[in-house]
Amino acid sequence: MGRSLSECRWLGHYGTMTKVSIADKLSQFSDYFNPRIVGELNGQHVKLVKFQGEFVWHHHEHEDELFLVVEGRFRMDFRDRQEWIEEGEFLIVPRGVEHRPVAEEEVAVLLFEPASTLNTGNVQDDALTRAHLQRL
Ligand code: NI
Repeated sequence: MGRSLSECRWLGHYGTMTKVSIADKLSQFSDYFNPRIVGELNGQHVKLVKFQGEFVWHHHEHEDELFLVVEGRFRMDFRDRQEWIEEGEFLIVPRGVEHRPVAEEEVAVLLFEPASTLNTGNVQDDALTRAHLQRL
């Protein structure tokens, strides 16, 4: 038998069966490089993040990361090349590959990645590492 919505909430299924407005979530924060969790499924998190400027070079030992541009554009730097990701486009960075997101102007990005993913990966950065993310 299926589960009711209230039962799913009790079981901790975050955001289950309730639609999510990306614009509404984005309106609830304005700081940079501080991802918010807005959904969760199959051990993966759906996150939203805004940023401008350069992030830190890093890689993820065990996680592939998906970056989908919602508003604006940004450049993903790899050690041997750069890739601009425009609004409506996404990029997947495989585990183990060093990368650095850079935005000349503010960009809003949806991230889809395993719940274990730390934003700075193998790097501990006092200013940028976010071990605990807020849920919106
Ligand atoms: Ni990363």
